[in-house]
Amino acid sequence: MKAIVIHEYGCADVLQYEDVALPQIKPEQLLVKVHACSVNPIDWKIRQGMLKFLNLGNKFPMILGLDFAGEVVEVGTKVTRFAIGDQIYGAVRPPGGAYAEFAAVQENQAALKPKNMSYLEAATVPVAALTALQALRNQANIQPGQSVLVNGASGGVGIFAVQIAKAQGAQVTGVCSTKNLELVQSLGVDRTYDYTQQDFTQDNVEYDIIFDAVAKRSFSKCRKVLKPNGVYVTTLPTPENLLQGIWTNFLPGKKAKFVFESTNSQDLNYLTQLIETGKVRTVIARTYSLSELAAAHTYSESEHVPGKIAIAIAP
Ligand SMILES: NC(=O)c1ccc[n+]([C@@H]2O[C@H](COP(=O)([O-])OP(=O)(O)OC[C@H]3O[C@@H](n4cnc5c(N)ncnc54)[C@H](OP(=O)(O)O)[C@@H]3O)[C@@H](O)[C@H]2O)c1
Repeated sequence: MKAIVIHEYGCADVLQYEDVALPQIKPEQLLVKVHACSVNPIDWKIRQGMLKFLNLGNKFPMILGLDFAGEVVEVGTKVTRFAIGDQIYGAVRPPGGAYAEFAAVQENQAALKPKNMSYLEAATVPVAALTALQALRNQANIQPGQSVLVNGASGGVGIFAVQIAKAQGAQVTGVCSTKNLELVQSLGVDRTYDYTQQDFTQDNVEYDIIFDAVAKRSFSKCRKVLKPNGVYVTTLPTPENLLQGIWTNFLPGKKAKFVFESTNSQDLNYLTQLIETGKVRTVIARTYSLSELAAAHTYSESEHVPGKIAIAIAP
C-alpha cells in the first residue's frame, strides 16, 4: 500500500510517499481502508521531534496521522461492534498511522461515520471536535445559559468548540481575526472579538468559561475576565499552566485547567448525534491528496488555517 512515512525527525521534506506492507491487526483491532484523513498540529509537532519526550513510540520508519474515515475491510477476533463494510471514523493513537491507504484501528477508538458527512468531511472531525467536547464538558462542566469565550474560534478545535458550546445552550463569544469574522459568525456565535482590533482580556465582560483553543492567552491574562467561579481551559500544557492547575484546584474560586484529548467510541457517537441533527458541521479550508502531504503540513504550520485540512486518499 501507499503511505506517508518518516525515517527521521525534521522539516516537511522528511514526509516520504512510499510503498509499505499492509498493517497486521491485533484481536481488538479493525483493518480500515482509509478514504480520507486530516492534519492536526500534533502531527507536525511529532514530525519535528517536539514530542519525543512523551515517548509516543519513537521508532522509525513511522507513519503519522491520527484522524481517519474509511471502510472496515477486516475485523480482529475480539471485535464485537463492527463488521466488514461498516463506514467508520475515529482517530488512531499517537504517533499515528492514518496517513496511509490502510490503517489498523482499535475498535474502541472508532464509531460509525455520520450519515450526512462524506468520508472527507468526517475525517476532519475526530481529534479537533473531541478536544473541544472534552474541554467544555469534562474540564469546564459547561451548563446551559453560561457565557463561554472561545479564543481561536476559527481554528480546527475552535470551529467545533463554538458549535458544541451553542449546542449545550451557552452564550458564545468567538475570538478570531478580521478575515475570519464571517466564518465564525456563520457557526452561530452570539458575539465576536477581532483580536487584531480588540483585546477581550481588557474589556469589562466576564465569562463562566474561557476556552483558549489556540493556546495564545494565559490563565494569568484571562483571570480578570473570568467570573468568580469561572474556569479557564487551555490546549497546551506549559509548566505555568500545570502549576496554575495544581494551585487553583486546591483553592476556592477561578480554576485553570488543561485538556488532553482522549479518543473513545462513546464521545465519537455523541459527536455523530450532534452532526446528524445539524448542530455541528465541519469547515474544510483546503483538501490535498496523500502524495501532497508535505504541502498540507507546511500550511498547518502557518497556524493560520481557517478550519481543517482534509487529505483525500481513496476516490
Ligand atoms: N491538548 C490536546 O489534546 C490538543 C488537541 C488538539 C489540539 N491541541 C493543540 O491546540 C492548538 C490548536 O489546535 P487547532 O487544531 O485548533 O490549530 P489550528 O487549526 O492550526 O489553529 C489555527 C487557527 O488559529 C487562529 N489563530 C492564530 N493565532 C491566533 C491568536 N493570536 N488569537 C486567536 N486566534 C488565532 C488562526 O486564525 P487567524 O489566521 O485569523 O489568526 C487559525 O484559524 C494547537 O497547539 C494544537 O497542538 C491540543
